[in-house]
Amino acid sequence: MELFYKVLYPLLLFVNAAMGNWWNMAVSESAGTLNNSIESAPPLRRDSCQRLTFLVDRQKQLCQLSDHIVQVIQSGAEQALEECQHQFRHSRWNCSTVSNSTDIFGGVLKFKSRESAFVHALSSAALAHSVARACSRGELNECSCDGRVRKRTPRHWQWGGCSEDIRYGEMFSRDFVDSKEDKNSDEGLMNLHNNEAGRRAVRSRMQRVCKCHGMSGSCSVRVCWRRLPQLRLVGDALATRYEGASHVKVVDRKRGKNIRKLRPLHLDMKKPNKTDLVYLEDSPDYCEPNDELGILGTRGRTCNRTSIGLDGCRLLCCGRGYQTRIRDHEEKCRCHFVWCCKVHCDVCRSKRDHHVCN
Ligand SMILES: *[C@@H]1O[C@H](CO)[C@@H](O)[C@H](O)[C@H]1NC(C)=O
Ligand SMILES: *[C@@H]1O[C@H](CO)[C@@H](O)[C@H](O)[C@H]1NC(C)=O
Ligand SMILES: *[C@@H]1O[C@H](CO)[C@@H](O)[C@H](O)[C@H]1NC(C)=O
Ligand SMILES: *[C@@H]1O[C@H](CO)[C@@H](O)[C@H](O)[C@H]1NC(C)=O
Ligand SMILES: *[C@@H]1O[C@H](CO)[C@@H](O)[C@H](O)[C@H]1NC(C)=O
Repeated sequence: MELFYKVLYPLLLFVNAAMGNWWNMAVSESAGTLNNSIESAPPLRRDSCQRLTFLVDRQKQLCQLSDHIVQVIQSGAEQALEECQHQFRHSRWNCSTVSNSTDIFGGVLKFKSRESAFVHALSSAALAHSVARACSRGELNECSCDGRVRKRTPRHWQWGGCSEDIRYGEMFSRDFVDSKEDKNSDEGLMNLHNNEAGRRAVRSRMQRVCKCHGMSGSCSVRVCWRRLPQLRLVGDALATRYEGASHVKVVDRKRGKNIRKLRPLHLDMKKPNKTDLVYLEDSPDYCEPNDELGILGTRGRTCNRTSIGLDGCRLLCCGRGYQTRIRDHEEKCRCHFVWCCKVHCDVCRSKRDHHVCN
């Protein structure tokens, strides 16, 4: 509580209630907001929910279910942030957070851009993932293992163990994340589409894992259950979708009642399906710093001289050029096996070129 009044409360005064951005849960109630380090975020508690003014009413209700659920939501936000920073580590915008804003991404998500599409998909995926994981660990009262899969009867093996309940995870994510969206606004329509695409990226990657039972490895009984994919796999899949995201526009169909739909901006483009990411606007310029939007620019970023990709100096430095510095590099080398059972290595030092954007 002390932490709340010392640190969080002054910060919350910044927070604009209308924004409803639950991403802030990754850092709120922590010195982490000032420090920009999500690892240092202490767990949130149920009684903090009312004061998290960036949550909409439904989100506050869900948040107040239990201390556990708040922590699961917070952990979902943290994992999504880590994954976003991993996926964008070579991009001009590297999913950086800002500390003096009402929104942890500054103003970057105000654009209905590809990046916004990715962040929405990833965050609703990560929430579904962390809720389903918590269910199977017995951390939540509302759910446990998925009992439904057992009703199907396979022939050569049987269901057993704990199948992770992605259905519950998705339901919770839909209830929590989608509740802040207004489907009558263009932005809401876009976000709802991307949120759902994110959840499908988890569901479609559920894995079946099996274990043999029986006399000395005979495998007379094979028991299988459904397991969540690693969030990294989901992040990789969404990054691919981000690359091929569809630029869309909102069209009104007046057939009796108003139906608003997302359609490709250009007629020759493929109609996005439910797993594709969609965006309405071009991205802001990530090359130059923009304090208002919380964009850091790419000066000082490390680039790869030989890559023709996004991490290459040409694209990352936005044509401003780069400087080469020589850096000491240390790595393990001349490793050999020492009986028994250690590996012994030397440390080799060398000079390496290090390229930095102007
Ligand atoms: C920020 O948090 C990290 C991790 O908890 C800690 O090591 C570091 O000292 C903190 N920095 C400041 C400026 O408080
Ligand atoms: C949706 O479209 C993508 C290509 O944009 C394709 O790879 C994927 O298989 C499609 N999914 C479905 C369910 O049709
Ligand atoms: C955040 O801080 C930067 C410099 O530290 C400043 O230029 C910018 O205006 C601040 N943004 C907000 C929203 O206060
Ligand atoms: C993102 O890039 C900035 C420089 O533009 C750098 O200071 C920061 O550490 C990077 N953040 C991450 C998470 O890689
Ligand atoms: C730089 O890019 C090249 C070509 O894509 C790649 O082979 C190499 O591993 C990269 N170097 C670093 C340090 O990432």
